[in-house]
Amino acid sequence: MNVLIIGNGGRENALAWKVKNSPLLKNLFISPGNAGTYGLGKNIEIDISQKTEILKFVKSNNIDLTLVGPEAPLEDGIVDLFISENQLIFGPSKKAAQIETSKVWAKNIMKKHNIPTADFFSFNDFSSAKKFILSQKKISWVIKADGLASGKGVILTNNKEESMNALKEILIDKKFGNAGNKIIIEEMLFGKEVSVFSFVNGKFVSSQISACDYKRSHDGDKGLNTGGMGSYSPPEFWNENLSNTISEEIMIPTAKALVEENVPFHGMLYGGIMLTSNGPKVLEFNCRFGDPETQVILPKLDSDILEICYNTAKKTLNEKTLVKWNNDNCVGVVITSGGYPKNYKIGHEIKLNSSPISNSLIFHSGTKIENDGKITTNGGRVLVSVGIGKTMTIARNKAYKNIENIYFKNMYFRKDISERALS
Ligand code: AMP
Ligand code: GLY
Repeated sequence: MNVLIIGNGGRENALAWKVKNSPLLKNLFISPGNAGTYGLGKNIEIDISQKTEILKFVKSNNIDLTLVGPEAPLEDGIVDLFISENQLIFGPSKKAAQIETSKVWAKNIMKKHNIPTADFFSFNDFSSAKKFILSQKKISWVIKADGLASGKGVILTNNKEESMNALKEILIDKKFGNAGNKIIIEEMLFGKEVSVFSFVNGKFVSSQISACDYKRSHDGDKGLNTGGMGSYSPPEFWNENLSNTISEEIMIPTAKALVEENVPFHGMLYGGIMLTSNGPKVLEFNCRFGDPETQVILPKLDSDILEICYNTAKKTLNEKTLVKWNNDNCVGVVITSGGYPKNYKIGHEIKLNSSPISNSLIFHSGTKIENDGKITTNGGRVLVSVGIGKTMTIARNKAYKNIENIYFKNMYFRKDISERALS
């Protein structure tokens, strides 16, 4: 099979690494890719917002299957375009992608189909939202922009003044642009968070895998929200009971609800779930693989990713396709440019002093190969060091040990990834 992967992050490097190991693979292309995907396939310089250009490339290079990494091309309807031109593509349609791209749409589906989630109210103008906040006894709320905001459109508020500021930022100052034309005001939930992933083909939901990610920039969950500073799998609190509950109360009913709403989902369904004292509740859904979770779940996938993605794209995925996850422990530590998620400099040379130690991987996120062959930093999140082991301690030690052999100016990483999972 000739395969094209769209995207340039650590997630796409991990996907390329896994695809590269598939016996079904003939040629691999990544658009635009990074220095990590460079050695795995051919990087193609096409802007991922140019879906007709990507389609042209696919047709002229006999690509059999395209895998979409990020959410933006899905929102832009790349899947619908490919399907209309009889090209196989892994990912949901523009309409089904709304499970991530419109929080109002997603919450209404959850409410209608009794999928456990925080109580919510939606608004599209400042004065009614303000009136609502002032009329309530509760003072803690979570205020969310409806559309895509690179993970930054969620504001937790603990008093009326903070709530007003959040409403103003989103609805009046348009901090998130049109993504903030509508908002959700949501009940604040408390509990542990977990990300859950299943391949979904209409009503069929594959066996699932879970991971925890670290969103804050600094140790102890301090600092600003980021795209993700690290991840580990499995979570220390994960067990069969919990897995069954989440599968039966959340993942399967959501797939079924989307079929009933005539917007069947085909692709990777990612549930962001909080384990509250009243059971697991959905914080959000994403319509794609997570980053950096993908870097710690794909090493645990014993089955052939191409077979799974091909069947999902062909809408033939069912219980006959093996989706088997192993029991290894996996820890991924994200190495960032100092200053991220605020201001940081790119273009620093990266020195990878040796190849990764056994049972470990280094995935690239924001990296670039220069004409002279040097690898330089090209983004906020630069590399992800992944350790794999029979215990979380082994996995964690390997992930951190690898970092000792990596150097670039102003590199930064959290020191506490997976610490809470050590027994
Ligand atoms: P989201 O993008 O919706 O997953 O939100 C980002 C983060 O905000 C989540 O990972 C949670 O830590 C937090 N969050 C979102 N919704 C809630 C909620 N209803 N209650 C408490 N925390 C929340
Ligand atoms: N790990 C967060 C995300 O992929 O959106």
